[in-house]
Amino acid sequence: MDQRAIGVFDSGLGGLTAVRQLRRLMPSENIIYFGDTARVPYGNRSRETLLHYARQDLRFLSGFQLKAVVVACGTVSTNCLEELRAGSAVPITGVVEPAVKRAARLTRSGKVGLVATRASVASGAYERAFRRLDPALEVHALACPLFVPLVEEGRYRPGDTVIETVAEEYLAPLREAGVDTLVLGCTHYPLLSEVIRHVMGLRVELVDVGAEAARDCRDRLSAADALADRAEGSARFYTSDRAVDFQRLAALFLGEEAAGPVEQVDISQYGE
Ligand code: DGL
Repeated sequence: MDQRAIGVFDSGLGGLTAVRQLRRLMPSENIIYFGDTARVPYGNRSRETLLHYARQDLRFLSGFQLKAVVVACGTVSTNCLEELRAGSAVPITGVVEPAVKRAARLTRSGKVGLVATRASVASGAYERAFRRLDPALEVHALACPLFVPLVEEGRYRPGDTVIETVAEEYLAPLREAGVDTLVLGCTHYPLLSEVIRHVMGLRVELVDVGAEAARDCRDRLSAADALADRAEGSARFYTSDRAVDFQRLAALFLGEEAAGPVEQVDISQYGE
């Protein structure tokens, strides 16, 4: 039993989709979330910039008593995970491995699709993880750089012609390639599930990377006998831009109001 908190960070609000799953799976845990809303999006940044940002994010979280960290950002998980792990005393879960395992289990045709940010796709991290697991899988990776800004603008609902047009244009090649499993490789994308399902067809299995990372974190804590033992856990949220903006949008990603205080921090203080 370990009462310390789980730290979670993302470039912005997308990682709250992972928090939603963590709270569902482990309601007794305390969660400390940092969303770097002042510097979102990360998805088009260079690897050097991503590493600089991610180290600051992790350094901020390291000021709390933590037993685990979930990198709820596809872009950081694909580009910087090893470096972050190397410098951390706390175990770090990224989103790639758990999602890849799930997708490899789900696919029947052996054709798997991946949609993610430009930096995630360029890193090749998902493909490498699939290859390690099963070299016979055919992986079709696609960058969808307009998805994050559209989600953040609230343009993710079925019936919105802008997101439907963008999704159709991005996803048509994956549909035509016949993938039967699609990894939503960015934590913003679960909000697009309905729109994506509409384009890809109901038979295609969608893998939510935040949900898989949450499950992985739960399994590791459970195996280490490090789950918390309290009636109800709490959540605290930190953001690098205005707390009111975070609060206003958080409910979309969490599926509930940000049930906990939201505070702004100056992330540049946590730097190299
Ligand atoms: N939520 C982040 C991810 O999973 C991406 C958004 C961004 O580009 O910052 O990749």
